[in-house]
Amino acid sequence: MRKIFVLIAVLAITACSNNNQKSADNEMDRFISELMGKMTIQEKIGQLNLVTPGGGILTGSVVSTDVESKIKAGNVGGIFGFYGPDKLRQAQKMAVEETRLGIPMIFGADVIHGYKTTVPIPLGLSFSWDLELIEKTAQMAAKEATADGIFWNFSPMVDVSRDPRWGRISEGSGEDPFLGSEIAKAMVKGYQQNDLKAPHTMMATVKHFALYGAPEAGRDYNTVDMSRMKMFNEYMPPFKAAIDAGVGCVMTSFNDVDGIPASGNRWLLTELLRGQWEFDGFVVSDYTSINEMIDHGMGDLQAVSAMALNAGLDMDMVGEGFLTTLEKSLNEGKVTEEAINLACRRVLEAKYKLGLFDDPYRYFDDARPAKDILSAENREIARMAAAHSMVLLKNTNQMLPLKKSGNIALIGPLANDKNNMLGTWAPTGDPQLSVPILEGMKSVAGENVKIVYAKGANISDDPVFAAKINVFGPRIEIDERSAEAMLKEAVNVAKSADVVVAVVGEASEMSGESASRSDITIPESQKKLVRALAATGKPLVLVIMSGRPLAIPEENELADAILFTGHPGVEAGNAIADVVFGETNPSGKLTVTFPRNVGQVPIYYAMRKTGRPQADDVFTKFRSNYLDVENSPLFPFGFGLSYTNFEYANLAVSKQTFSSGDEIEVSVDVSNTGNFDGEEVVQLYVRDVVASVTRPLKELKGFKKIFIKKGETETVTFNLSANDLAFYHQDLQFYAEPGEFMVFVGGNSDAPLSGKFELK
Ligand code: NOJ
Repeated sequence: MRKIFVLIAVLAITACSNNNQKSADNEMDRFISELMGKMTIQEKIGQLNLVTPGGGILTGSVVSTDVESKIKAGNVGGIFGFYGPDKLRQAQKMAVEETRLGIPMIFGADVIHGYKTTVPIPLGLSFSWDLELIEKTAQMAAKEATADGIFWNFSPMVDVSRDPRWGRISEGSGEDPFLGSEIAKAMVKGYQQNDLKAPHTMMATVKHFALYGAPEAGRDYNTVDMSRMKMFNEYMPPFKAAIDAGVGCVMTSFNDVDGIPASGNRWLLTELLRGQWEFDGFVVSDYTSINEMIDHGMGDLQAVSAMALNAGLDMDMVGEGFLTTLEKSLNEGKVTEEAINLACRRVLEAKYKLGLFDDPYRYFDDARPAKDILSAENREIARMAAAHSMVLLKNTNQMLPLKKSGNIALIGPLANDKNNMLGTWAPTGDPQLSVPILEGMKSVAGENVKIVYAKGANISDDPVFAAKINVFGPRIEIDERSAEAMLKEAVNVAKSADVVVAVVGEASEMSGESASRSDITIPESQKKLVRALAATGKPLVLVIMSGRPLAIPEENELADAILFTGHPGVEAGNAIADVVFGETNPSGKLTVTFPRNVGQVPIYYAMRKTGRPQADDVFTKFRSNYLDVENSPLFPFGFGLSYTNFEYANLAVSKQTFSSGDEIEVSVDVSNTGNFDGEEVVQLYVRDVVASVTRPLKELKGFKKIFIKKGETETVTFNLSANDLAFYHQDLQFYAEPGEFMVFVGGNSDAPLSGKFELK
C-alpha cells in the first residue's frame, strides 16, 4: 500500500514537473516568437554572429574588427575571449541600450581546465578517474568564470583520441569511450549544475563534433575517415552522454566526416544530433571553421555559409560568412527564411535559458572577482586535484616516497619553472601564479632536507623549435650557458646528493592546438641529462611532465622511479611535493596507452580481434606483430602504481546465465597488502566472445575508485545489464547479442582475474 502511495506521489511529481517544464517552454516560445516578430532579417542574422574583440589568445589567423560598431548595429549575437564584469557590462550596455531591440549578448570563453585557478590539463585530470573531483573542478571553474562575467564555456572537449602525436590529446579524457562518457557527464553537470540561471553556473559546450581526435597521421586539422561502426561505438558515445546530460551547446570540428566537413554536414548536425539524439540547444562553429570549408573545396564564402546554415549550424565563430552572405543567399533562394529563423530562435533560446532577458547584467557583479577567484579554498582544490591525477609508473624498491631528511638534487629544465606548469590552453590562467617544483618541495619537505637545484638542460636546444613553442609567451628559454656547462653542474650537484629528482618532459605548448609531433620522445637535450644523471649511480626519480603520452622506454630503464604528472596546473609544485614526500599516496591511472615507440600508434587496449593474434608478446612468423618492437605497450591503459599494494581475489559472477531485462553482479575482493592507506581504481572489462562482427578484445564497462586502509579488504561489486553489452551493428542498431561473455577485473586493462557468463 505504502509502495503504491509512493509510486503515485512520484508519478504526480514527475507529471507536475513535466507540466512545469512544458509551461516554461511555452512561455519561452511565446516570448521568442513575439521578439522575432519584430526582428528584421539582418537583425536575425546578427544574432548568429559570434566575435572576439582581440586582446586574448587567438586560435586562428582572422580577428574580428569594428566590434563596437557591429554591436551597435545589431550585428553581434555574442562575444568570446573578453573578460571582467566591468568591460562586459559596457559591451552588454551597447547591445541592450544602443540597438533597436536591445537583445543581450552571450559571453563565452575557453575555460578548459580551470578559469584562473588552473587545474591539471584535462588528460591529466582524467587520470584521477574521480568523477566527483572532476565535477568539483568544473563547478569551481564555473564559479570563477561567472564571477568574471563569462557564462558560456567552450568545454568539455570530449574527443576520444588514440594518437599521442595529436597535440590536442592533452585537452580530452584519453582513449576510452566509456570513461570519456562518464567524464563528459561529470563536466557538464559541474558547469551547468542543472540550473543555467543560477549566478554561479555556465552553459557548457561539448566539442568538437565530431571525430576531431582521429586525424590522419596525428596531424591537427587533418582529414578523418572511419567506418560508421567505429564512429558510433568508439568516438560518438561521449557526445551522446553530454547531450543526455543536458549540455546547452555543441561546437563543430574542423575535420570532415565521411567526406563532408563537420560544419557543413547535415547528416551530422541535423539528422544525428537533433533527429536521433534530440539535442535541443544550439550549434556553434569552431573558429572560422565555416570559412575553412572553402579550403576543403566546398565553394566560395557564400556557398559554404549557406551549406553550414542548411546543415543545422546556428552560430558562426569569427568568420562572418553568415553576417555577410546569408541575406544574399536568401534573396537567391539558396537558404530559406525558415532556416534563418530556426538558427536565430535557437540562439535566443540559449539567452532565454541563461536568464539574460530577465536581467542582461546578471553576471556582472564587481564584488565577485575578489571573492570568488583564486581563493585559498580554490587553490586547495587545485592542489588536491593535481596530486590525485599523478600516475606512478615505476617504483623500484619503494624508492618513493622520499624521506623528509637528507640531501636531494632537484634537477631539470622544468624543476624551477613557472611558465610551463599550467599546461596548454589555459588562456585565462596566469603562469606567474604557479608554484614551481623547487618551491613546493622546499615547503613540503621542511627543514631537515637540503634541496640543491640545477637546471641541467634546456627543454630543447633548438632555437627554431623554441620559437614555435613560445607563441603565447616564453615556454622554452634557452640558457646562455652551453649545454655542456649545464650538464656538468647538474652532475656535480647529483653526485653530492643522496637522491636525484629530475623533472623533464614537454613545455606546455608542445601539446595542444596546432602542436602535433611526429616524434613523441623527450627532447634530446633532456635525454642526455637523464643518461648523465643515471650514470652517477645515484638513485634517480624522474618526474615527467607532458601533455601527451611519451615514448620513454630508455628513461624507464634508467630511472628507479617515475611519476607522470601531465601539466599539473597552478599548484604544480605543491602537488608534486605532496606525492613525492608521501603526503598523498598516488592513485592516478593512465587513461591512454603509453606506446614503446611512435610506430606502434595507434595503440589502445580495446583493439579489435585479428585473425592472426600473437600470444605472449613473442615474435611469431605469420602472426600480427612487428619485427622491431613488441606488440605490448610500455604502459597499458588503466595502469598506475601506488605506494601500497593491492591484491585482487575471489572474482565471482552472480549467475552463469541471464537475460535482457535482468542484471548480473560481478564482485571481487581487493586487499591493501602494503604499508600505506591508499586509493585504487578497480576496473571491470568485458569481452564479447562470439559476435556477428569483430569486437574489441576488451571494453571497460565499469570502474570504482575506492579507499582501502592498509591491511584491510573491500568487496567491490559491479552490476551489468544487457545494455552494457550492447553495441552498434552495421545497420547502426544498438543491441546486445546473446551468447558467451568474459569479464575481467583488476587494477589496469591487463586485469588477470576473469570470469564468464552467458546472455540468453
Ligand atoms: C579553436 C579551438 O579548436 C576551440 O576548441 C576553441 O574553443 C576555439 N578556438 C575558441 O577559442
